[in-house]
Amino acid sequence: MTHTRPVRRSWAEPYKIKMVERLKMTTQEQRTKAMQDAGYNTFLLHSEDVYIDLLTDSGTSAMSDYQWAGMMMGDESYSGSQNFYNLEANIQKYYGYKHIIPTHQGRGAEHFLSRICIKPGDYVPGNMYFTTTRLHQELAGGTFVDIIVDEAHDPNNLDPFKGNVDIRKLDDLITRVGADKIPYVSVAATVNMAGGQPISMQNMREVHALCQKHGIKIMLDATRAVENAYFIQQREEGYSTTPVADILKEFCSYTDGCTMSGKKDLLVNIGGFLAINDDTIYEEARNLVVVYEGMHTYGGLAGRDMEAMARGIEEAVQDDHIRARVGQVEYLGDLLTSWGVPIVLPVGGHAVYLNAKTFLPHLTQDQFPAQTLAAELYMNSGVRSMERGIVSAGRDAKTGNHHYPKLELVRLTIPRRVYTQAHMDVTAESVLDVFERRDEIRGLEMIYEPKYLRFFQARFRQL
Ligand code: F0G
Repeated sequence: MTHTRPVRRSWAEPYKIKMVERLKMTTQEQRTKAMQDAGYNTFLLHSEDVYIDLLTDSGTSAMSDYQWAGMMMGDESYSGSQNFYNLEANIQKYYGYKHIIPTHQGRGAEHFLSRICIKPGDYVPGNMYFTTTRLHQELAGGTFVDIIVDEAHDPNNLDPFKGNVDIRKLDDLITRVGADKIPYVSVAATVNMAGGQPISMQNMREVHALCQKHGIKIMLDATRAVENAYFIQQREEGYSTTPVADILKEFCSYTDGCTMSGKKDLLVNIGGFLAINDDTIYEEARNLVVVYEGMHTYGGLAGRDMEAMARGIEEAVQDDHIRARVGQVEYLGDLLTSWGVPIVLPVGGHAVYLNAKTFLPHLTQDQFPAQTLAAELYMNSGVRSMERGIVSAGRDAKTGNHHYPKLELVRLTIPRRVYTQAHMDVTAESVLDVFERRDEIRGLEMIYEPKYLRFFQARFRQL
């Protein structure tokens, strides 16, 4: 018998499974009823009715035995918890910032940063908006300005760094409104709403140089910055042999601070922080945190949660971890692409995004194609995804009209260390099934719309 040599060596997960959580299998009838009861909004489903939950990668990761062991070491003192100092030390070591304020999750940090730095009438440029980030900027009286490269708005453009800042757009804004109207540039790595696309080190250096010239600060949304660092290692010249941890640290060194949702990269179910080099901003944040979250040494978290996040940082920056994490997302993306299903390319770090505009070309954007597709996918197989299109984009704060984003997407978000390759296969097969009968799919109309972040709670009915 002859054996042919495999053309490549596969990666496999750098862990084995010690504990499992059983899933409920549902029938088509049960799912149809559940979707109706949820107003065709996947956020409003009961999770026990979900088979494979790809709603979000936020707070849905599996912790390691090392992290769980750390949970037992929680120092639940009201102030000065040892776990806080462990967390602070690891943030300083791996991200390189001077001061840290823990918060209950990312938006807690966004709240403080926006409140402290933004004055009414200010402009906050960013490489595409994120829902909570932009809302906090607006609530503080700022106007968000999108300065991402045009490629980011094109789901078929294969540029390896579609998260990059368009330096010309930033420069034009500075000329137009003046540097004193720009409290900071908000840089996200990776860019969630663009499909999990990375920003290059080179681009970050250029943003840094321009901001230095005008005395403007740069605040990083570091939520998925480890995934961004991995893409730099894989795609950018000069970094192929640099450890992800070193890339992360260099990347952060071009920024003045960060907001962080630890619920993503950092492998915890809850937690976040604000990290900042500036002493004055830190002083104010340390004051605000006691008003809104808790003492500055716990910020809304239990000691055990801070320990889990401190340990999560150490695991998150390991090259073998991040390769398997992003590798699994790429596996799902490659499968769908090979079957002709329209997705955002290149495949991002945390999710595969279905291009709902191309998937359901017979629906207008007012018929909520991505919301429709997410509902159909759930009814087909119990796979839960999320709309990232017109519903998520919300309304213009001034005119009250819908924002009409160029991208109308359904996000299949992969939790870290939770699902297997077989789950990815089942997901892809369900998407294909819906794709093959896409012509029969009807759109939705919105029958309830909350004032803030409407995608979480809006309700719909089938047309
Ligand atoms: N920034 C980014 C890029 C995010 O993706 C999120 C959360 C936040 C900030 C806010 O952090 O949820 O801890 O308050 N994204 C989740 C998601 C909700 O599903 O993408 P948070």
